Amino acid sequence: MASSSFVAIATFAFLALFMGSSTAQLSTNFYSSSCPNLLTTVKSAVQSAISKEARMGASLLRLHFHDCFVNGCDGSILLDDTSSFKGEKTAAPNLNSARGFDVVDNIKSAVEKACPGVVSCADLLAIAARDSVVTLGGPSWNVKLGRRDSKTASQGAANSSIPPPTSSLNNLISRFQALGLSTRDMVALAGSHTIGQARCTNFRAHIYNDTNIDSSFAQTRQGNCPRTVGSGDNNLAPLDLQTPTAFENNYYKNLVNRRGLLHSDQELFNGGSTDSLVRTYSNSESTFNSDFVTGMIKMGDISPLTGSNGEIRKNCRKAN
Ligand code: HEM
Ligand SMILES: *[C@@H]1O[C@H](CO)[C@@H](O)[C@H](O)[C@H]1NC(C)=O
Ligand SMILES: *[C@@H]1O[C@H](CO)[C@@H](O)[C@H](O)[C@H]1NC(C)=O
Repeated sequence: MASSSFVAIATFAFLALFMGSSTAQLSTNFYSSSCPNLLTTVKSAVQSAISKEARMGASLLRLHFHDCFVNGCDGSILLDDTSSFKGEKTAAPNLNSARGFDVVDNIKSAVEKACPGVVSCADLLAIAARDSVVTLGGPSWNVKLGRRDSKTASQGAANSSIPPPTSSLNNLISRFQALGLSTRDMVALAGSHTIGQARCTNFRAHIYNDTNIDSSFAQTRQGNCPRTVGSGDNNLAPLDLQTPTAFENNYYKNLVNRRGLLHSDQELFNGGSTDSLVRTYSNSESTFNSDFVTGMIKMGDISPLTGSNGEIRKNCRKAN
């Protein structure tokens, strides 16, 4: 064989191997020898944050979602803007909305103390999301780990990849589909809105202009969300009107009663293809829990950086 073609073949084999490593599998025991106390360390930091403010569980769960939907679960949402860089924190879906960054800092410092330079910020978000759900009464699962952190972030990608609350059912289906998540995954993951809060600016049009909403519920929400754009935009309302700090299937019961807070929520039960699944989840917490767990694991698998790609950030707010 001519040496140049040998080099070509060797290069090809190397590239194939290398590219293979970028899609390397995550594993639940990734840190079991390099950071044996990781899971207990994160859990106690999450529990302590939630005991100070129950909503924090919702905020941490959402951070993992917004991380994964923008160029994969790579910790990109955690990077602070600088004078020369506009990241995801100030992107439209996150500005004045994404929260919990100081809690992530606390988790990171506790973990750095136990095992310096070992655990990625992207993995901490995945574990904190699970621990938040469990702490608020939801299902548990084994979190796959081994993600690495991005060195950069994309405000444009965050603007365009995270579905807005004005989304139609078809938009929701296609945006999740684009990331390998089925309609069933989407409907189950939206059940995250059984916890947490939303701002008036995100549900104003639904409570004033939409017709597929229970009128007394609309009236109640109008009480703290003025009709005029720019007035009371940041006033909060619970995504689940009954139990916004308990993780169960009440979200779907609300939808069946036309008490979804966001336009996008009520789209899941509005005479379309997902009505029957919403009914199923409203009647069966165990079916919801099991599909939610399946969805979370699939969401956590979106385009991770692995092998030698990315880095393990020392400070979640900035690249090393
Ligand atoms: C299906 C498409 C989705 C849309 C359109 C959507 C939209 C929104 C909006 C507009 C808010 C309120 C933000 C604010 O007003 O500041 C919100 C909050 C929230 N979202 Fe979603 N979301 C979706 C899916 C998800 C998924 C998949 C998860 C998690 C896996 C999630 C978890 C949450 C949580 C927990 C909150 C409350 C956060 C807090 O209280 O700090 N959402 N979402
Ligand atoms: C993202 O959206 C915000 C708010 O609409 C806008 O100010 C910003 O310029 C957008 N950024 C990019 C990079 O598109
Ligand atoms: C409701 O719809 C009308 C007519 O399209 C529009 O002018 C108005 O801004 C909408 N109001 C809200 C709160 O979205």
